[in-house]
Amino acid sequence: NRVRVKAPASIANLGPLFDLAALAIDYAYDVVEVEVVEELGDGIRVDVEAAGAPSGEANTAYTAAYKILEYLGETLHLRIRVVKGVPPRMGMGGSGASAAAAAYAVNLLLGEPFTKEELVKFAGEAEAVAAGTPHYDNVAASLLGGLVILLDRSRPWVARLNIPEDVYIILFIPKREVVKVPPGKGKTEVMREVLPREIPLATSIAWMEKALALTLGLQLDPYTALKAANYGGPVEEARSKLIPGYAEAKREALEAGALAFNISGAGPTLFAIVREGDEDEVARRVAKILEKHWGELETRVVNID
Ligand code: HSE
Repeated sequence: NRVRVKAPASIANLGPLFDLAALAIDYAYDVVEVEVVEELGDGIRVDVEAAGAPSGEANTAYTAAYKILEYLGETLHLRIRVVKGVPPRMGMGGSGASAAAAAYAVNLLLGEPFTKEELVKFAGEAEAVAAGTPHYDNVAASLLGGLVILLDRSRPWVARLNIPEDVYIILFIPKREVVKVPPGKGKTEVMREVLPREIPLATSIAWMEKALALTLGLQLDPYTALKAANYGGPVEEARSKLIPGYAEAKREALEAGALAFNISGAGPTLFAIVREGDEDEVARRVAKILEKHWGELETRVVNID
């Protein structure tokens, strides 16, 4: 009556697909162990102990598990242990990975009443604990793997798209806090507050064009399609102002041969998409620029999970 699962980090938005897509990567994993303590007969109890993340209700694993039990009317006492592998608050879907792993583990324990697609809903609602509002992009990628697009945010309908195997992702991860977050606020919250409330029609058409290129285009001409991930529209424009060295790093990445360069989720981690053979050059040149602005950073070439 105990299961242990892991869920990967992920890159949300991937440029134009803000809140609608994420890419699972093999950078790091959250490991979640769920155990049934007892059948209560009445009520639900979920205890969460976490290493490297908040315990109890403040952990997204709690809400993901609770919502599943509540939906099914299961009156269980569960004990959950979370070992955090995905660094929190870095824009790599850390809270989503814990929620996704917890949802998947609880589903397994209960005899798999839900499909992975259906679990996206419960895990995405748990994200509200970390981000203020539910969002489904990171959890969808952590649950299903690869590039996952949300086709309807009101119900579990997702598409998984293929990306060529000879494409790598380079992550640029700062080692100190480069985005200033006022006390009492979350990083994602701050990065969402700066977004414009309205955008002109012409901008929304340009945005849609890139979103279509990155989704439908992937099936026609994948390398050209991946270049669309370079466009983050009004989201990138607003957020990049808070990330030191962004414009310079992006220019360098593209000059060094990257297909695309953008912000991973709500940042501050940045990513480049490169074809095999270009990874060393892009990693080296961009890291050199970012070092000037950030001080120490981690540069990692990863695969799509
Ligand atoms: N899509 C969300 C955002 C991801 O960019 O705000 C946050 O983890």
